[in-house]
Amino acid sequence: MTKILITGGAGSVGFHLSLHLLKTYGPDTELVLVDNLQRGAMDDDLKKLLEDPRVRFLNLDLTDQSSYKEFGNGYDHVYHLAAVNGTKYFYQMPHETSRINLLTLIYILEWFRTENPQGKICFTSSNEAYAGGLNAFGILAIPTPENVPLVIEDPFNPRWSYAATKLMGEVLMIHYAAMYNLRALIVRPHNFYGPRAGYDHVIPEFSLRILDRVDPFPIYGADDTRTFCYIEDAVRAMQMLMDSTKTDGQPIEVVHIGDTEEIMIRDLAEKMFTVAEWKPQTTEIKDSPHGSVKRRLADVTKLKNLVGWKPEVTLDEGLKKTFEWYREHPKKF
Ligand SMILES: NC(=O)c1ccc[n+]([C@@H]2O[C@H](COP(=O)([O-])OP(=O)(O)OC[C@H]3O[C@@H](n4cnc5c(N)ncnc54)[C@H](O)[C@@H]3O)[C@@H](O)[C@H]2O)c1
Repeated sequence: MTKILITGGAGSVGFHLSLHLLKTYGPDTELVLVDNLQRGAMDDDLKKLLEDPRVRFLNLDLTDQSSYKEFGNGYDHVYHLAAVNGTKYFYQMPHETSRINLLTLIYILEWFRTENPQGKICFTSSNEAYAGGLNAFGILAIPTPENVPLVIEDPFNPRWSYAATKLMGEVLMIHYAAMYNLRALIVRPHNFYGPRAGYDHVIPEFSLRILDRVDPFPIYGADDTRTFCYIEDAVRAMQMLMDSTKTDGQPIEVVHIGDTEEIMIRDLAEKMFTVAEWKPQTTEIKDSPHGSVKRRLADVTKLKNLVGWKPEVTLDEGLKKTFEWYREHPKKF
């Protein structure tokens, strides 16, 4: 029997991770998903997942410390994904982003060390935790390994409120794990994408604009480059890392998860026009949002060396699957 807890289980990563874990661990799995539905939605996909008798859903606000007693204990693995995520929230409510992300992590660590210390816990940090180094110092190793300095470029810019919680989150994880001898892991996702991944990220936004036949077609930060990791590849990496005893020691491991196929945003748009079999007459090149970084490429050597992971879904295949999902789910939840 494998017993797993996923906080933020209704969100994009939590949902796909759940599907993957149920498939991988088979019938003898108990999966508890916790979410307050701040962003993740009780949509048809999630309702279908919850029909599986191995899955239980707890609608709890994890900033309320009394809610943690609902979890019980005896979990082999805990994936702490719950967080305010999504750039628009960082700008709209940087104070709440800071409060919620830090409180939920502190409370889950307190619950974990007291109620579930035999298990193993995974925290999803973010590439945002180091991304500020490029603008602040004009240099960042490309591809970027895990051991670069973590940098908040400008605490007055609300954009960095989220990154600051990930930076501080890593500090909390490292020192809780060391002080209480916990098995723990930090992963830094780099632009996961796929079906059911919200509506306010570049690939969903392009999908919706294409479906709405928006022409002229705006492209923000056209010359910025990113990599995009298909969600099934990404959650497989998370599970492989959690299953490996190589990530059980002290100090805990910080591991980048991402694809290595770097692409300019304007070329991503072109790929999506091809997938969608529609192209606007005109594209409108717009500036990147303030604070956005020009280039981001993770070094995933450590991930490959630790567990032998490699991506299996090409960008073309992933974009096709993703666009199809958005074609069928064109409206916001
Ligand atoms: N998807 C990516 O590419 C990416 C990149 C970098 C970091 N991450 C991190 O990975 C994790 C998962 O990301 P995601 O894309 O699934 O985000 P998401 O927003 O889809 O999921 C997060 C979930 O947490 C829930 N949540 C928020 N506050 C809560 C609270 N107080 N109590 C209970 N639940 C709460 C939300 O309702 C949401 O369903 C997050 O921690 C995110 O910061 C993701």
